[in-house]
Amino acid sequence: MESEISIEGYKKAVGSFVTGITIVTAAGADGPVGFTCQSFTSLSIDPPTILISVAQTSRTFSTIALNRKFCVNILSTGSARLAHDFAFMDPSIRFTTHSWRTTRSGNPVLEAALAWLDCEMIQSIEVEDHLIAIGKVVGLGQSMDHREPLTYYRGNFGEFVELSEF
Ligand SMILES: Cc1cc2nc3c(=O)[nH]c(=O)nc-3n(C[C@H](O)[C@H](O)[C@H](O)COP(=O)(O)O)c2cc1C
Repeated sequence: MESEISIEGYKKAVGSFVTGITIVTAAGADGPVGFTCQSFTSLSIDPPTILISVAQTSRTFSTIALNRKFCVNILSTGSARLAHDFAFMDPSIRFTTHSWRTTRSGNPVLEAALAWLDCEMIQSIEVEDHLIAIGKVVGLGQSMDHREPLTYYRGNFGEFVELSEF
Protein backbone atom coordinates (compact mmCIF):
# COMPACT_ATOMS: atom_id res chain seq x y z
CA MET A 1 0.00 0.00 0.00
CA GLU A 2 1.35 3.48 -0.92
CA SER A 3 1.12 6.07 1.91
CA GLU A 4 1.57 9.83 2.23
CA ILE A 5 5.09 10.76 3.40
CA SER A 6 5.06 11.68 7.09
CA ILE A 7 7.98 11.56 9.56
CA GLU A 8 6.38 8.58 11.32
CA GLY A 9 5.70 6.79 8.02
CA TYR A 10 9.25 7.46 6.82
CA LYS A 11 10.74 6.16 10.11
CA LYS A 12 8.58 3.02 9.85
CA ALA A 13 9.56 2.30 6.23
CA VAL A 14 13.28 2.97 6.70
CA GLY A 15 13.22 0.99 9.97
CA SER A 16 12.47 -2.12 7.90
CA PHE A 17 16.11 -2.07 6.81
CA VAL A 18 17.94 -4.10 9.45
CA THR A 19 21.32 -2.72 10.53
CA GLY A 20 24.05 -3.34 13.04
CA ILE A 21 24.58 -0.86 15.86
CA THR A 22 27.65 1.22 16.62
CA ILE A 23 28.73 3.72 19.23
CA VAL A 24 30.68 6.62 17.82
CA THR A 25 33.18 8.04 20.30
CA ALA A 26 35.57 10.98 20.50
CA ALA A 27 37.90 12.55 23.07
CA GLY A 28 36.19 15.60 24.56
CA ALA A 29 38.00 18.37 26.45
CA ASP A 30 36.40 17.11 29.70
CA GLY A 31 36.55 13.38 28.97
CA PRO A 32 35.21 10.87 26.46
CA VAL A 33 31.99 11.54 24.53
CA GLY A 34 29.90 9.26 22.35
CA PHE A 35 26.48 8.29 21.05
CA THR A 36 24.61 5.28 19.67
CA CYS A 37 24.72 5.37 15.87
CA GLN A 38 22.85 3.16 13.43
CA SER A 39 23.76 5.18 10.31
CA PHE A 40 27.19 3.72 9.63
CA THR A 41 28.40 2.38 6.29
CA SER A 42 31.63 1.20 4.76
CA LEU A 43 32.35 3.58 1.86
CA SER A 44 35.58 2.60 0.06
CA ILE A 45 37.98 -0.29 0.44
CA ASP A 46 41.32 1.04 -0.85
CA PRO A 47 42.02 3.30 0.91
CA PRO A 48 39.43 2.32 3.56
CA THR A 49 36.83 4.98 4.33
CA ILE A 50 33.51 4.89 6.17
CA LEU A 51 30.63 7.27 6.71
CA ILE A 52 28.33 8.08 9.59
CA SER A 53 25.26 10.27 9.60
CA VAL A 54 24.89 12.49 12.67
CA ALA A 55 22.05 14.78 13.78
CA GLN A 56 23.06 18.47 13.65
CA THR A 57 22.04 18.63 17.34
CA SER A 58 24.51 15.92 18.46
CA ARG A 59 26.81 17.06 21.26
CA THR A 60 29.35 14.44 20.20
CA PHE A 61 29.58 15.86 16.70
CA SER A 62 30.85 19.22 17.96
CA THR A 63 33.81 17.35 19.50
CA ILE A 64 34.34 15.35 16.30
CA ALA A 65 34.29 18.57 14.26
CA LEU A 66 36.90 20.10 16.58
CA ASN A 67 39.21 17.04 16.77
CA ARG A 68 38.58 15.90 13.18
CA LYS A 69 38.78 12.31 14.44
CA PHE A 70 36.46 9.68 15.94
CA CYS A 71 36.14 5.96 16.63
CA VAL A 72 33.31 3.65 15.46
CA ASN A 73 32.63 0.84 17.96
CA ILE A 74 30.62 -2.04 16.43
CA LEU A 75 28.47 -3.74 19.07
CA SER A 76 27.67 -7.37 19.89
CA THR A 77 24.45 -8.84 21.32
CA GLY A 78 25.74 -8.48 24.88
CA SER A 79 25.77 -4.69 24.44
CA ALA A 80 22.09 -3.77 24.00
CA ARG A 81 22.20 -2.00 27.40
CA LEU A 82 25.23 -0.03 26.22
CA ALA A 83 23.40 1.00 23.02
CA HIS A 84 20.41 2.09 25.10
CA ASP A 85 22.55 4.06 27.55
CA PHE A 86 24.52 5.90 24.85
CA ALA A 87 21.25 7.02 23.26
CA PHE A 88 19.20 7.90 26.34
CA MET A 89 21.44 8.34 29.41
CA ASP A 90 22.93 11.65 30.45
CA PRO A 91 26.20 12.07 28.46
CA SER A 92 28.16 12.77 31.66
CA ILE A 93 27.57 9.22 32.95
CA ARG A 94 27.76 7.23 29.68
CA PHE A 95 31.43 6.33 30.21
CA THR A 96 31.27 5.82 33.96
CA THR A 97 29.15 2.66 33.68
CA HIS A 98 30.95 1.07 30.70
CA SER A 99 34.69 0.21 30.44
CA TRP A 100 36.82 1.91 27.83
CA ARG A 101 40.44 2.62 26.96
CA THR A 102 42.26 4.96 24.58
CA THR A 103 43.43 4.04 21.06
CA ARG A 104 46.83 5.03 19.66
CA SER A 105 45.27 8.10 18.05
CA GLY A 106 43.66 9.22 21.32
CA ASN A 107 40.03 8.21 20.75
CA PRO A 108 38.09 6.27 23.39
CA VAL A 109 37.30 2.64 22.47
CA LEU A 110 34.75 0.56 24.38
CA GLU A 111 36.07 -2.72 25.84
CA ALA A 112 32.82 -4.43 24.79
CA ALA A 113 33.22 -3.60 21.08
CA LEU A 114 32.99 -6.49 18.61
CA ALA A 115 35.28 -4.46 16.34
CA TRP A 116 36.36 -0.83 16.17
CA LEU A 117 37.57 1.60 13.52
CA ASP A 118 39.66 4.63 14.39
CA CYS A 119 39.01 7.39 11.85
CA GLU A 120 40.33 10.75 10.71
CA MET A 121 37.45 12.90 9.47
CA ILE A 122 38.31 13.87 5.88
CA GLN A 123 35.01 15.51 4.93
CA SER A 124 31.65 16.51 6.39
CA ILE A 125 28.56 17.32 4.36
CA GLU A 126 25.42 19.05 5.66
CA VAL A 127 22.23 17.31 4.55
CA GLU A 128 19.06 18.87 5.99
CA ASP A 129 18.94 18.10 9.76
CA HIS A 130 21.95 15.72 9.62
CA LEU A 131 25.63 15.78 8.72
CA ILE A 132 27.49 13.07 6.88
CA ALA A 133 30.96 12.59 8.35
CA ILE A 134 33.40 10.70 6.16
CA GLY A 135 36.29 9.06 7.98
CA LYS A 136 39.52 7.57 6.70
CA VAL A 137 40.30 4.44 8.74
CA VAL A 138 43.67 4.86 10.46
CA GLY A 139 43.45 2.04 13.00
CA LEU A 140 41.23 -0.91 13.82
CA GLY A 141 40.75 -3.84 16.17
CA GLN A 142 38.52 -6.87 16.67
CA SER A 143 37.54 -8.89 19.73
CA MET A 144 39.35 -12.23 19.95
CA ASP A 145 36.52 -14.12 21.66
CA HIS A 146 33.42 -15.21 19.76
CA ARG A 147 30.63 -12.61 19.93
CA GLU A 148 27.46 -12.28 17.84
CA PRO A 149 26.54 -8.91 16.27
CA LEU A 150 23.81 -6.70 17.72
CA THR A 151 21.11 -5.80 15.18
CA TYR A 152 18.35 -3.19 15.05
CA TYR A 153 15.05 -3.61 13.23
CA ARG A 154 11.81 -1.63 13.46
CA GLY A 155 12.75 -0.05 16.78
CA ASN A 156 14.00 -3.21 18.50
CA PHE A 157 17.39 -4.72 19.22
CA GLY A 158 17.93 -8.27 18.03
CA GLU A 159 20.47 -10.83 16.89
CA PHE A 160 21.78 -12.33 13.67
CA VAL A 161 20.55 -15.74 12.56
CA GLU A 162 22.60 -17.50 9.88
CA LEU A 163 20.64 -19.35 7.18
CA SER A 164 22.00 -22.87 7.04
CA GLU A 165 21.02 -23.57 3.38
CA PHE A 166 23.58 -21.11 1.90
C1 LIG B 1 19.09 2.46 17.87
C2 LIG B 1 19.47 3.92 17.79
C3 LIG B 1 20.16 4.38 16.66
C4 LIG B 1 20.54 5.72 16.56
N1 LIG B 1 21.22 6.14 15.45
C5 LIG B 1 21.59 7.44 15.32
C6 LIG B 1 22.29 7.89 14.16
O1 LIG B 1 22.59 7.13 13.25
N2 LIG B 1 22.65 9.21 14.10
C7 LIG B 1 22.34 10.08 15.11
O2 LIG B 1 22.71 11.27 15.00
N3 LIG B 1 21.66 9.69 16.23
C8 LIG B 1 21.28 8.39 16.35
N4 LIG B 1 20.60 7.97 17.47
C9 LIG B 1 20.27 8.95 18.52
C10 LIG B 1 21.47 9.30 19.42
O3 LIG B 1 22.11 8.13 19.91
C11 LIG B 1 21.00 10.14 20.64
O4 LIG B 1 20.27 11.26 20.19
C12 LIG B 1 22.13 10.56 21.54
O5 LIG B 1 21.61 10.97 22.80
C13 LIG B 1 22.98 11.69 20.98
O6 LIG B 1 24.00 11.97 21.92
P1 LIG B 1 24.91 13.28 21.89
O7 LIG B 1 24.01 14.46 21.71
O8 LIG B 1 25.59 13.27 23.24
O9 LIG B 1 25.87 13.14 20.74
C14 LIG B 1 20.22 6.63 17.59
C15 LIG B 1 19.52 6.16 18.72
C16 LIG B 1 19.15 4.82 18.82
C17 LIG B 1 18.40 4.33 20.04
